[in-house]
Amino acid sequence: MGVLEPSSVLVTGANRGLGLELVRQFLQMPKPPQMLFATCRNPSVAQDLRELAAQHSNLRILRLDVESKASIQEAFVSVKDQLKGLGLNLLINNAGRVFSSSVFSESEENMHLLYQIHVIGSLKMSQTFLPLLKKAAQTGPQDGLSCNRAAVINVSSAAGSITTLLGWEYGHILSYRCSKAALNMLTQCQGLVLKEEGILCIAIHPGWVQGEMGSSSGYMPTLKKEESVQGMLNVFSTLSEENSGGFYSWEGKVLPW
Ligand SMILES: NC(=O)c1ccc[n+]([C@@H]2O[C@H](COP(=O)([O-])OP(=O)(O)OC[C@H]3O[C@@H](n4cnc5c(N)ncnc54)[C@H](OP(=O)(O)O)[C@@H]3O)[C@@H](O)[C@H]2O)c1
Repeated sequence: MGVLEPSSVLVTGANRGLGLELVRQFLQMPKPPQMLFATCRNPSVAQDLRELAAQHSNLRILRLDVESKASIQEAFVSVKDQLKGLGLNLLINNAGRVFSSSVFSESEENMHLLYQIHVIGSLKMSQTFLPLLKKAAQTGPQDGLSCNRAAVINVSSAAGSITTLLGWEYGHILSYRCSKAALNMLTQCQGLVLKEEGILCIAIHPGWVQGEMGSSSGYMPTLKKEESVQGMLNVFSTLSEENSGGFYSWEGKVLPW
């Protein structure tokens, strides 16, 4: 297993849940990123992030709503300025939402909204930050693809796996499943193309995790967010060219589409 030590990392939806835990664990690494951009919709109420930023000068909190092209562009300009000519090594598209619904009750609004967040938001993030990812790919370690060089991680879900439909018995969550299935396809397509630019792209399922989203169906999962994030970071440390465009679990298992 390699050592995960990207110089710069950006996480969306970093004010709570898995995004916040990713930030916490990046900060605790033996060699933390020199620049860790924790982005969220409303920094003024992101108390946990603000407390962390008071203790860690490498942590930068930025406003970023993945539903808004203008917000993504503003965040890009700020990240580019702060990186002062360096590239961005690791982009983690983590922001997400879920709505309970059934095949009978799912609404057009929520189908649009979750496609907007999970698919269009992740696509716009990768497209907008591409110049910084390319810069990192050109200037980082040149021995194949890795998260230390340049990578896009799309946080997906096995609930979007057409083969397994994880948790079907606990909820149809149609807008969630369809949008994550589309995110998986986006990842495959990006994986094929971005590898030519020296950028790795994968989708990861963090497991069914305790917390607001994981418990929203009424089922109480056993996996803690600390374990999920530790597992995902281990997976990130092992990724190379052969994983490009793949779909993996937090334990590193290959998942069926
Ligand atoms: N938890 C699980 O069991 C599980 C399982 C499989 C996959 N996942 C995936 O893992 C990711 C993180 O989930 P989680 O459990 O940490 O969920 P969570 O605790 O509900 O946190 C979701 C995060 O996404 C942010 N967000 C929502 N809409 C956004 C937008 N338009 N722009 C920017 N940020 C936005 C939220 O910000 P606000 O605080 O502003 O709402 C929050 O920070 C999601 O992509 C989810 O689908 C989770």
